[in-house]
Amino acid sequence: MLEKLPQSPVHAAPRYDWDELVQEDRVHRLIYADPAIFAQEMTHIFGAVWVYLAHESQIPNNNDFITGKLGLRPLIITRDNDGKIRALYNRCTHRGTTLCRWEKGNSKSFQCPYHGWSYLNTGKLRGVPWPDGYAVDFRDKKFNLAQVPRVESYRGFIFGTLNMEAPSLSDYLGPIKKPIDDWLNRNPGGKVVVCEANRLKFKGNWKLAYDNSADGYHVIYSHRSLIETENRFNDGQEKGMSYYKNSPDKLEMYVAYTGNGHHYKDKRPNLEKRAGGLWAIESLHPGMEHYAEKLRAKLGAKAEAALDLAGSEPMNINVFPNLSLLGNHIQVIEPVSFEETNAVWYGTKIEDADGTLGEDVVNDINALRMRTQEGFPNLGEVDDITNFEQIQRGLACLEDEWIYMNRGMGMPERFRTDADGVIYGPATDEVFMREYIKEWKRLMMAEPNLAVQREP
Ligand code: FES
Ligand SMILES: [Fe+2]
Repeated sequence: MLEKLPQSPVHAAPRYDWDELVQEDRVHRLIYADPAIFAQEMTHIFGAVWVYLAHESQIPNNNDFITGKLGLRPLIITRDNDGKIRALYNRCTHRGTTLCRWEKGNSKSFQCPYHGWSYLNTGKLRGVPWPDGYAVDFRDKKFNLAQVPRVESYRGFIFGTLNMEAPSLSDYLGPIKKPIDDWLNRNPGGKVVVCEANRLKFKGNWKLAYDNSADGYHVIYSHRSLIETENRFNDGQEKGMSYYKNSPDKLEMYVAYTGNGHHYKDKRPNLEKRAGGLWAIESLHPGMEHYAEKLRAKLGAKAEAALDLAGSEPMNINVFPNLSLLGNHIQVIEPVSFEETNAVWYGTKIEDADGTLGEDVVNDINALRMRTQEGFPNLGEVDDITNFEQIQRGLACLEDEWIYMNRGMGMPERFRTDADGVIYGPATDEVFMREYIKEWKRLMMAEPNLAVQREP
């Protein structure tokens, strides 16, 4: 059963001239600082497009579940007893409390902690305490949990949308699938297993993180202390993000906007193309060299290729609106309010899919992958978060209204567009921001056909 949702009251009475708020070269402070715009984003963006919910490796077995969010809506993402992945609203149909308070687990049913109504993990109401006190038929589907009507996966990444007219997930992703495929295909079996997360939060709008996600312009300034620290750990050899020094736009790395708000930064062309070329630029934090030596002693000539599996993939892949693949990590952006956001960094590990590496080697590679958290996610993300919080403070200057994203604009010689419409530009360019924010504006002005579903 589908329930069509009414239009959001905000949209029914538009208060803004969207063309005034989002211009070619600049955006108005209100798009980050207005609670009403944020409220509209929760339907027009985090309701109307495919939003990343979880990874299949977090619920590998039937009846596994993990809690998550679709915008502000709390969800239970579960693989039911038949193996079907569902995104149930984590909201008891009795009086509305969250039904499941566990972060994850394995259960065929959920019992509400408030008055004990219980539900199967298909979303169907199973029973209520003392039903003889009710004069209703609990087989009425209105008592079953609401659920996200469309849930699809792409290579393990689970997405959901309430929009019945959204394209298929595959079409929504479009050309961004290619860098995602590359990111996965370098691993045995072409996959990753998602681990626990490093959870950060900041007092700023969620789009500040998305604006920054392929920004090559800030790196050498904002992350100076990280780059210097990493160079000190590595006897002055240039590691990590050092290639942003001097003239980054002259290097082969580039930024690409692939449509539907998605974009990526590709630093792979800067690498030496040889086994060990990726590991050579990995910044070793104290103690990591122990694993590298152990792998070299054990594997000899094959060690460099194994170490590359531990190295941070030099890509930032950003899937609008809330998923980024950065190095070996998955970052999920969770809006909390117009001025508060969670930035959750999941580690990933690899598996010995074809049995060629052996358990010991895979464990050491995964230990190194986990320790790459000590680089950018711990010591770099805090630089970015500080910028986001300070932008939100700056946006309190009511009379100084504009944010510029015009680097590269009016310089067509800096760009090329391929047959799929993908726009390529130099690493420090703001073209990806201008393009994604146009898509944001289009979505905010559209009339999405949203629905929830309940088991019959
Ligand atoms: S709110 Fe869930 S049983 Fe009452
Ligand atoms: Fe940064």
